[in-house]
Amino acid sequence: MKGIILAGGAGTRLYPATLAANKQLLAVYDKPMIYYPLSVLMTAGLRDILIISSPEALPAYRRLFGDGAALGLNMAYAEQPRPDGLAQAFLIGERFLEGGPGALILGDNLFFGAGMTELLARARRRSIGATVFAYEVEDPTAYGVVEMGPDGRALGIEEKPAKPRSNLAVTGLYFYDQEVCALARTLTPSARGELEITDLNRLYLEAGRLHVERLGRGYAWLDTGAHDSLLEAAEFVRALQKRQGVYIACLEEIAFHQGFIDRDQLRARGEALKASDYGRYLLRLADAARA
Ligand code: DAU
Repeated sequence: MKGIILAGGAGTRLYPATLAANKQLLAVYDKPMIYYPLSVLMTAGLRDILIISSPEALPAYRRLFGDGAALGLNMAYAEQPRPDGLAQAFLIGERFLEGGPGALILGDNLFFGAGMTELLARARRRSIGATVFAYEVEDPTAYGVVEMGPDGRALGIEEKPAKPRSNLAVTGLYFYDQEVCALARTLTPSARGELEITDLNRLYLEAGRLHVERLGRGYAWLDTGAHDSLLEAAEFVRALQKRQGVYIACLEEIAFHQGFIDRDQLRARGEALKASDYGRYLLRLADAARA
């Protein structure tokens, strides 16, 4: 399975911080925001990654990740000329997916939880249908919202409903089977002029092929779309890292544990970044692995 990160958009709610910088490049505490969603795809075991962003921002992503070799990944890049909707990822990414299944994650979504690895593995193993992840929030009106029946099946899904039928927000992480591009091609723009991911998910729901995984109490799903939520996400990462001494979304660490890179590559990255705590953390990991 291949993975797509959608990292475009105008980031208007973060003006003026995003007037000249792409939102997903802003730091969440100590690393660029896009590290967090990329860490999720890597934890799912995906190595072929497409980053979709605006024509202006794409060169910065190429500088950040290059061909992906330092992380044992194959990185590809594609432009989204305008933010015309999340489901457009599967029109832009159609050639990249080569008719196979694909996972999509939004560049501004941050997930954390001990059970993520197993949850992701389960979603990846499903060869038919789509998997979305639902998270209980106090006010779901800013999100896709899914309504569940008592048997755990999805009954309905709506984008930013004024009167939500549940408190279950649909997070920005989606796993789709090989039908996804063909289905995305049938979508038409919504009232706000976007190809909606919720409309794509509804097609799966209507075919009886939408799986909803609940992210319960043990998980954090954090929003980074506004100044306060961005700061709160940074504080969350800082608190966990300081307290436990282990890093969230340390890409080289995940790459090493997944067997994408070896100890020498881990050490080389640590050396290159050793002026920072992050780099020194990599060196400690390399030392510990040697022991
Ligand atoms: O975060 C989860 C929510 O994401 C879901 O619950 C909603 O169903 C889904 O529509 C989406 O809602 P948002 O209103 O948060 O989407 P937003 O337009 O803010 O875009 C999310 C990210 O995707 C953001 O980092 C910018 C990027 N983006 C967005 C659009 C519309 C693109 O790269 N291209 C786009 O065309």
